[in-house]
Amino acid sequence: MVYIAIIGFGNIGSGVAELLSANSAKVADALGDTVELKYILDINVPVGSPYEKYFIKDFSVIENDPEVRIVVETIGGAGAAYEFTRRSLLKGKSVVTSNKELVATHGAELVSIARDTNSNYLFEASVGGGIPVLRPLAQCLQANEIEEVYGILNGTTNYILTKMRSDGIRFEEALKQAQEKGYAEPNPESDISGKDTARKICILAAMAFGRLLDPDKIPVKGIQSVTLDEVLEAEKQGGSVKLIGRAAKLPDGQIGISVEPVTVSRDNLLSDVNDVFNGIVVRGNAVGEVLFYGRGAGKLPTASAVIADVIDAAKHFHARKRIYFEDGRNDAVGELPVWGNTINS
Ligand code: HSE
Repeated sequence: MVYIAIIGFGNIGSGVAELLSANSAKVADALGDTVELKYILDINVPVGSPYEKYFIKDFSVIENDPEVRIVVETIGGAGAAYEFTRRSLLKGKSVVTSNKELVATHGAELVSIARDTNSNYLFEASVGGGIPVLRPLAQCLQANEIEEVYGILNGTTNYILTKMRSDGIRFEEALKQAQEKGYAEPNPESDISGKDTARKICILAAMAFGRLLDPDKIPVKGIQSVTLDEVLEAEKQGGSVKLIGRAAKLPDGQIGISVEPVTVSRDNLLSDVNDVFNGIVVRGNAVGEVLFYGRGAGKLPTASAVIADVIDAAKHFHARKRIYFEDGRNDAVGELPVWGNTINS
């Protein structure tokens, strides 16, 4: 029996508990053992919840319980989540997360602690929601030199841009719908401003090129100033406005990386990636272009990726996964060649 604790019981954390319970037989079959929830750490205990008996408020209970070997961190942010992740890894517990902010800001340190303590820090759900992309990038494409990674990495902004075009609705109305569907961040400013996409493209670049750049130091433009007129004009000209995160290895060895709204022409597959869906293109020097496509946000798609990592962590209690990248927070960011029609408003 493998015991886990969930820390942070919001949209994603509760999705993990629900999916674990709904698909317990499938999970047991995949692992060859059962996965049991032992604790849920959260400041709010939902009265009447079927999970009420698991709730605790003191992290040290989890930290000091040797039976808990995997901690699922779905708190979000880089405050308490950072502290509890460090403490878990230092105790040799593996940590699985969907927290892109934490991976993008402290990922190099956390991966390095995991390496030292023979545990694993796994974060498939942090990029692309339910789409398997980080593991395929690190494993299935490992025979390639990766030349470029780009794509639509934020479900909320893609949903907003799609609805503005298809329903002719205003930005605010489309954002409200995305929030109601549970796609947006608690503070949707991270989605709209492009910050969330910046964190995700930095994680993808770290997997592809081995250096985790600082998302606060890369050029980022969000969709806050994209107007309905621009969206409709792009369509008239045979394209769609998309928020694109992009990273490439430049000839001088630097990593070029950026986030900006771009008019994607119809002959590019990303122009058909709509609603909450994400699309990520990876170009390797042997395989050419590979497209990853699926639901980039939402409770159960994200829980699907989290639980797959739980199974993977449990399969590798005595063997570390090879997910290593170095801290590139002081690296200079290279300038990418122009791509598509950038929206300059
Ligand atoms: N707010 C994020 C998005 C959630 O809309 O893509 C998934 O990371």
